Amino acid sequence: MRQGNRTLKPLAWSNYNRITLDSIQNQRQYPRFHIKPVNMKQFEVRIISSNASFAVNEGESILAAALRQGVMLPYSCKNGTCGSCKARLENGDVHYPFHPPLALSRAEIAEGYALLCQAEPTGDLQIHAREIEAVRDIQVRRMPARVIEKTLLAPDVMRIRIKLPSAQRLQFLAGQYLDVLLPKGKRRAFSIASAPLLEDIIELHIRHIEGGDFTGWVFDTLKVGDILRLEGPLGTFFIRNNQTDRPMILMGGGTGIAPLKSMIEDLLEHHDRRPLNLFWGVRNLNELYLHEQAREWEKKNEHISYTSALSHSSGDTPSASFNGLVHDAVLKNHPDLSTFDVYMSGPPAMIDAARAAFLKAGARPERIFFDSFEFGLDVPVRVLARSH
Ligand SMILES: Cc1cc2nc3c(=O)[nH]c(=O)nc-3n(C[C@H](O)[C@H](O)[C@H](O)COP(=O)(O)OP(=O)(O)OC[C@H]3O[C@@H](n4cnc5c(N)ncnc54)[C@H](O)[C@@H]3O)c2cc1C
Ligand code: FES
Repeated sequence: MRQGNRTLKPLAWSNYNRITLDSIQNQRQYPRFHIKPVNMKQFEVRIISSNASFAVNEGESILAAALRQGVMLPYSCKNGTCGSCKARLENGDVHYPFHPPLALSRAEIAEGYALLCQAEPTGDLQIHAREIEAVRDIQVRRMPARVIEKTLLAPDVMRIRIKLPSAQRLQFLAGQYLDVLLPKGKRRAFSIASAPLLEDIIELHIRHIEGGDFTGWVFDTLKVGDILRLEGPLGTFFIRNNQTDRPMILMGGGTGIAPLKSMIEDLLEHHDRRPLNLFWGVRNLNELYLHEQAREWEKKNEHISYTSALSHSSGDTPSASFNGLVHDAVLKNHPDLSTFDVYMSGPPAMIDAARAAFLKAGARPERIFFDSFEFGLDVPVRVLARSH
């Protein structure tokens, strides 16, 4: 396989059935050999900026094909809702077998944009997309892990710490997430809140979702000593180091603080002194479960500032806290975002609103990085579908 002047090892793909939502998830594996079944159509996708090319099997999404062949393209939710995998088609066309792409507007489709986690080619393609070198060589692994701590941090947030089997390590970049593997092929995504330094102990912050199967089980039934099955690391949400003169805004909503905590701990560990402005939005004071820790980061490090934002404050707001939505707090302090790198994680509604507002405030689209805490992939397609 050709990828610019790099030669990639051929990698395998063993699922030749029509792709289902479950099988999209399983494409996070990187098998070793690739055998094309007789009569299966294949299309070539070429990334214009790098001249990398890869083959996409009929019935396979472009993102799944890229990942299985070691071409790292941006992604997060893999279910068409977050928009991280948006790319522009230069030549060729795609179709969407499951549902109209939720994170694409009509106007974007007309301008030639596609969502690579959902789109399947109808012929050879040339696309404009950003390859992500940093995570290319990080192995995605499945492993069991033992729960060693379960602590209630806020009324609806549980911290669990899990330990990998001895001699096993999870190599990851601060900001990435992992999937907890559940029976019947289901999985649930959670950001890693601990820093990569503690490779064999992983911290997760789990918000209880009303009626949620997994998070309900974590709150009610999971106990110290239980074993979870994990797959990771996943995602492309991590600090970019290619323009270190740019100050950073890290903005989290609720448990969206988790990957930001990992990033901050990692930056501090590496003595990175880039100006870092942390904004953390929650509803009420009792949800600010990392407030003291964040104030400590600010107090001990001149290059770090911290602002909390309470959207449903009842008057007991801590001093220097903002009353309102967290992205409004960012804009109040930084009305011009053109020089900033923006990292944000949390509820999809927050990400959507912030992204639109930050672009208006001059943020460069290619310098906004985010993980949107979307639903699990087994949430029925009709819930995800958008009518166009
Ligand atoms: C990349 C990524 C990273 C994530 N990191 C974290 C994290 O660090 N901490 C964390 O708490 N969560 C995180 N999430 C969200 C988390 O994966 C979901 O909350 C979880 O899958 C819910 O599982 P469940 O089985 O309890 O709920 P389900 O049984 O899947 O859902 C129950 C009901 O709740 C709704 N629902 C499901 N998820 C959400 C949601 N996120 N918000 C609102 N309604 C929802 C569904 O539509 C359904 O009706 C992340 C998501 C992604 C994609
Ligand atoms: S990864 Fe494609 S829309 Fe989220």
